[in-house]
Amino acid sequence: MRKIIYSLITLLFVVSCENSNSHDSEKEKFINDLISKMTLEEKAGQMNQYNGFWDATGPMPEGDYQKKRYNELMNGQVGSMLNVIGVDEIYALQKIAVEETRLGIPLIFGHDVIHGYKTIFPIPLAESSSWDLDLMEKSARVAATEASADGLNWTFAPMVDISRDARWGRVMEGAGEDPYLGSLVAKARVKGFQGTDLSEINSIVACAKHFAGYGFSEAGRDYNTTDFNHFTLHNTIMPPFKAAVDAGVRTFMNSFNTLDEIPATGHIHIQRDILKGDWDFDGFVVSDWGSIDQMIPHGFARDGNHAAELAVIAGSDMDMESSLYVSKLVGLVNSGKVDINLIDDAVKRILRVKYELGLFDDPYKYCNNERSIQELGSDQNMQVALEAAKKSIVLLKNNNQLLPLEKEGKKIALIGPLADDKNSPLGNWRSQAVYNSATSVLEGMNKYKGNRIVFEKGVELYYGKTNFHNRVKLNYNDRSDFGKAKLAAATSDVVVMVMGEEGHQSGEGRSRTNIGLPGLQFELLKEIYKINQNIILVVMSGRPLDLSWADKNIPSIVQAWQLGSKSGDAIAQVLYGDYNPSGKLTMSFPRNVGQVPIYYNFKNTGRPSTSIEQVTNSGYADVVNSPLYSFGHGLSYTNFKYSNLTIDSGELDYNSKINISVKIENTGFFTGKEVAQLYIRDIVGSIARPMKELKGFEMIELAPGESKVVSFEIDSSLLEFYTYENKWEAEDGKFHAFIGTNSDVSDYKEFHLVK
Ligand code: GLC
Repeated sequence: MRKIIYSLITLLFVVSCENSNSHDSEKEKFINDLISKMTLEEKAGQMNQYNGFWDATGPMPEGDYQKKRYNELMNGQVGSMLNVIGVDEIYALQKIAVEETRLGIPLIFGHDVIHGYKTIFPIPLAESSSWDLDLMEKSARVAATEASADGLNWTFAPMVDISRDARWGRVMEGAGEDPYLGSLVAKARVKGFQGTDLSEINSIVACAKHFAGYGFSEAGRDYNTTDFNHFTLHNTIMPPFKAAVDAGVRTFMNSFNTLDEIPATGHIHIQRDILKGDWDFDGFVVSDWGSIDQMIPHGFARDGNHAAELAVIAGSDMDMESSLYVSKLVGLVNSGKVDINLIDDAVKRILRVKYELGLFDDPYKYCNNERSIQELGSDQNMQVALEAAKKSIVLLKNNNQLLPLEKEGKKIALIGPLADDKNSPLGNWRSQAVYNSATSVLEGMNKYKGNRIVFEKGVELYYGKTNFHNRVKLNYNDRSDFGKAKLAAATSDVVVMVMGEEGHQSGEGRSRTNIGLPGLQFELLKEIYKINQNIILVVMSGRPLDLSWADKNIPSIVQAWQLGSKSGDAIAQVLYGDYNPSGKLTMSFPRNVGQVPIYYNFKNTGRPSTSIEQVTNSGYADVVNSPLYSFGHGLSYTNFKYSNLTIDSGELDYNSKINISVKIENTGFFTGKEVAQLYIRDIVGSIARPMKELKGFEMIELAPGESKVVSFEIDSSLLEFYTYENKWEAEDGKFHAFIGTNSDVSDYKEFHLVK
């Protein structure tokens, strides 16, 4: 019965998709002509994607599978490859597809260009902390230029998963916990990758992933079950995906997790009803690595045949590395289990994107070695990476104005296992970065000649070479270098300690239950503190770490993430004040892992807690509810004073606008940037509403003594949410509007939305 309903639903959608999306009749005519010539085997082949011969980013099959795959490629039964690297390799495979198969349909080549290709940018979570949307678009554009120059035409990015759980290693790939900011970042990155014209040589197809809810993996354990209600789905998880569609993203990737107990890969409602139906998406959906086959261990499919049937009915158009579409779809159609219209719809979506890329006009357009040599790692691209790195740094604490460092006459002890590390700053998902190619903090600081820098590693963080697949081997017992570090600290004016995570300690499959400083670093930090309290802690990580002890004892703390190729230069320029830090956190930093998941846009509950002394309120006995550092937190070397919060009316209707403004003054001694944030609280709703929601922000730059009035326009569209009636709409009632330097802001103005 279920299958009959599915077939009817999908048939209706297939027909509607045809009618509503064939904007470009020439394109659609070409596609329809081509598909009319294709055999069922060739159609199934277009829906089949194999990994290339470069580093696999998932589990490869056992045995000698290469010959079988080569034959399928020759027979036109491969539509796409991933992780094929370099113009020559891509050209060779494209030549087979175009010149040796019956119809010569070009391949589309995908790869994870997540934060740069050869020039590596800050990990996305870091870059989102810049709140600079133009910058994020620009860095995606550079990444697209490099990747396309090396033969690629599709990136599996942007990852737009909202996540509130620092235990989940993949928070490094996203833009943090907020759907409003996450939506704007998704849009910027899609525009950066795809440009204004997909057929343009520097453009590559973007991919909004992982659809949907992967960031809510229970307990932060990767690939785990999720459990959230459909209001969370629509109000928190979906907005960045919808923003990507509105920005013109041409592909989606679904996710490993279940939602509503159904694997996303087999989830008709999100893929057909919402994405291809409500949102009118006419690109294609690729499964995640092996996720079709993984519906068997999920307990949702009996076997490969059943998994392929469920996935294609649910709207998964391309099979990444399950080999099930190429092997099962012909039989499923011939046995009447799968309607040929579903296959045709999927194939047309794939051909449509290939057409938009211009691959049918010139399948070798991306294969130009000269362009590759010219573009990859160019000085111009590296300058963009340096700008992005500087803007992504967040100053968490700076007591006693220990920062910025004086530029001469001081003896500085530079201590920590990441101080000379040229590898970890590249982070995970580093694509074609050369191992150990990042500038280290030591190299960056040595460019400033006025002080004496004494470097001592103090402790090894890890052993051996790390990569996408291996566990990082941490040092838990060798303290033999502590002594030299302590001596350096004892004889220096100030100590800069560079600690945190190795570059492959976050990313896919990198969930951690302990989010403290890994290995023996915490021990070393406390030992050094006993000797010299003038410590600046520079933290490199792919996620929020537990910095509670440091916050209590260390005067200055800088969150330096994994900043990419120009990491050391950026950090040195910030430490010396040549760049006044302007970053703001896009993910809350917990006081300890027990608080996780933790986020600023929480619900009040019926018993809100204001003190840990309260027993029967929603709080803990041992720690306050607030995070250590809040969403939107980030200091500057100067100070900004907010005053004169003003709203021009206390009443708004569905056709009017009101203005809220605040005066911001630079009361310090440095020119600095400030991101003023607008938050709105809906006091009463048809469902419980968050305490605050980001609804706007503006970055300003002020010289010492300068002030500016920042204002935001509020209309009813800003107040819309997915209501109890399952509609996106605003509801009458009372609202509070805040403008502040972070989400802790408490001063507000009240207004009412009235019919
Ligand atoms: C991985 C990831 C996905 C990536 C894909 C291809 O398993 O989940 O984000 O794009 O496989 O590498």
